[in-house]
Amino acid sequence: MPRWSGVADAYRESFATLCSGTVERLLADTTGRRLLDVGSGTGQLAARAAAAGRSVVAVDADPDMVAMSEAAVPGRSLPAALPDLPFADDTFDAVTANFVVNHVADPRAAVRELARVTRPGGRLALTAWPGRPAAWGALVADAFTAAGVVPVPGERLAPDLDFERSVAGLQGLAEDAGMEVVLAEELHWTWEIDPEALWTGIAGGVAGVGRTFLAQTEATRAAAERELRRAVRRRATEGVLRLPAAAAYVVAAG
Ligand SMILES: C[S@@+](CC[C@H](N)C(=O)[O-])C[C@H]1O[C@@H](n2cnc3c(N)ncnc32)[C@H](O)[C@@H]1O
Repeated sequence: MPRWSGVADAYRESFATLCSGTVERLLADTTGRRLLDVGSGTGQLAARAAAAGRSVVAVDADPDMVAMSEAAVPGRSLPAALPDLPFADDTFDAVTANFVVNHVADPRAAVRELARVTRPGGRLALTAWPGRPAAWGALVADAFTAAGVVPVPGERLAPDLDFERSVAGLQGLAEDAGMEVVLAEELHWTWEIDPEALWTGIAGGVAGVGRTFLAQTEATRAAAERELRRAVRRRATEGVLRLPAAAAYVVAAG
């Protein structure tokens, strides 16, 4: 999983707080004692589920993320990569994948595998970023443009593997996996982040923006940092950035 390798600490400081905006909703909509969280990252969802008394298993493809999940839910984390999960059919009452299917090489195969381990009548909850630019992304993109950042080739999936980055697209993945969609909507929240933490994520190589930043010359990186700090100063209030965020969200029944 090279995209996530070596970025776990920077992710925890930065974009993990963005992804946490949907966690309570996923937990509320996937009742059932045995919960599997796939692509568990820092273990934030697994930890909240365990604190609520649920029996949790957390898996992630990246070893550093597995170590973080293990620290969050000791004895409950293991390495595993979609589309191959080391569990029997129908093992879990609830399965969550928070901002994961938008990162895998074969989203349809990934959701089929998530469906396979969800018991009949159980719930699978999925989130993905909508295709339109996010507020934080626009802020960074404007600063990068002002700094003369050279775009790096995107990592888009081949059209036959990709899915529409929307509620309908996510719903299609669940339906293709033979599940009945019981809830499909966009979730909206405000991402509150310390500008320094956002900077830690970008400079630490997290996500497309981080990879783009690290691919620049030293001079361009310095200009990008200057521009972003300037943009953030204009946008932040009392030292905090408050940015609208949105996610495509689907809950499906096994
Ligand atoms: C955006 S992070 C989300 C982490 C976590 N779900 C959260 O809400 O903070 C995406 C996570 O998916 C993991 N991941 C990427 N590809 C994966 C795959 N094929 N199988 C399992 N996990 C994967 C990454 O290592 C990373 O931890």
